[in-house]
Amino acid sequence: MTNANGRGRLIYGCMGLGGPWDGTSYGSSEIDEAAAVIEAAQGIGIELFDHADIYRSGKSEAVFGEVLARSQGLREKILLQTKCGIRLGERGLQTHYDLSREAILERVNQSLKRLQTEYVDVLLLHRPDPLMDPREVADAVGQLMAEGKVRQLGVSNMSGAQIAYLQEELETPLVVNQLEMSLLRRDWLESTVLVNHTEGLEYSFPHGTLEHCMATGIELQAYGSLAQGRYTGASSAEFSPAESATAQMLEQLAGEKNTTPESVLLGWLMKHPARISPVIGTTNTGRIQACADAASVADHMTRAQWYGLWVAARGNNIP
Ligand SMILES: NC(=O)c1ccc[n+]([C@@H]2O[C@H](COP(=O)([O-])OP(=O)(O)OC[C@H]3O[C@@H](n4cnc5c(N)ncnc54)[C@H](OP(=O)(O)O)[C@@H]3O)[C@@H](O)[C@H]2O)c1
Repeated sequence: MTNANGRGRLIYGCMGLGGPWDGTSYGSSEIDEAAAVIEAAQGIGIELFDHADIYRSGKSEAVFGEVLARSQGLREKILLQTKCGIRLGERGLQTHYDLSREAILERVNQSLKRLQTEYVDVLLLHRPDPLMDPREVADAVGQLMAEGKVRQLGVSNMSGAQIAYLQEELETPLVVNQLEMSLLRRDWLESTVLVNHTEGLEYSFPHGTLEHCMATGIELQAYGSLAQGRYTGASSAEFSPAESATAQMLEQLAGEKNTTPESVLLGWLMKHPARISPVIGTTNTGRIQACADAASVADHMTRAQWYGLWVAARGNNIP
């Protein structure tokens, strides 16, 4: 099961690589961990690796760059995506957003240096910057593309309306919108069926965002897609009844399908016609391997199974 570019749909999210978020330096163990993770991700067919300039205060990109430098031919076998637009303050805390022309140019050049590569395949604007001037974004991105440093552009955490507004000024099409989407974080889904229900007010997801992306061919990438292990082995302390029921159902379906709960969890997301690409962020190589069957689970999941998981996760019936 591939995306519109023919790429496998699972993406590896590199936010967990590089050690602590503070300014401490990394060592050989962090580089070795990155190498093992990249190998495990490639082992299940992953081609695209997702970064951001801020992850682990730059160290996620840096350890990845060290692996690229020591692995001849690896860069040509993979696709790299990074993000810019958030400024980190002390101890890794966010201070402000910055999508000014200068900031985009400076941050992308720094990312390329850390990643030890000449180009990234996709650059994402990490979050909407209320002070952003779309003409400045167009100017900076146009320059980076002309220099061969960025091949495609996308966004993250943006609504359909924000994307459409930005696109008006851009010469290049926006190709990605990365959002938090999972069976646990279901605002993206609940909002589509609770349009005229007061219960819908509980969910914060701008109406029309999925539809805008689907209609314009923008790939939807889901971060937090493994729900941080909430249903698949992370601490079960203080589980709600809905969480316990969902974890049990994932386990049961995994048994029936001769696969893992992780693959069922991701397969559920991938069955949606928006052709969502899950970004998985575990640094545990066994858990990466447990995601291998996600696409085939999606292909074979019945409508009853898909709705059954959704109802279990929401803890009550759909309207
Ligand atoms: N665009 C954005 O604003 C944005 C925001 C957040 C993330 N992202 C991207 O999305 C990627 C994934 O996000 P995420 O890491 O929050 O989501 P995730 O894949 O749902 O969760 C992975 C995290 O949960 C932990 N975890 C604990 N037990 C687990 C289990 N049993 N199964 C799976 N994970 C378990 C992992 O730790 P271990 O490593 O120990 O397994 C890891 O820290 C990130 O790496 C990043 O690339 C983007």
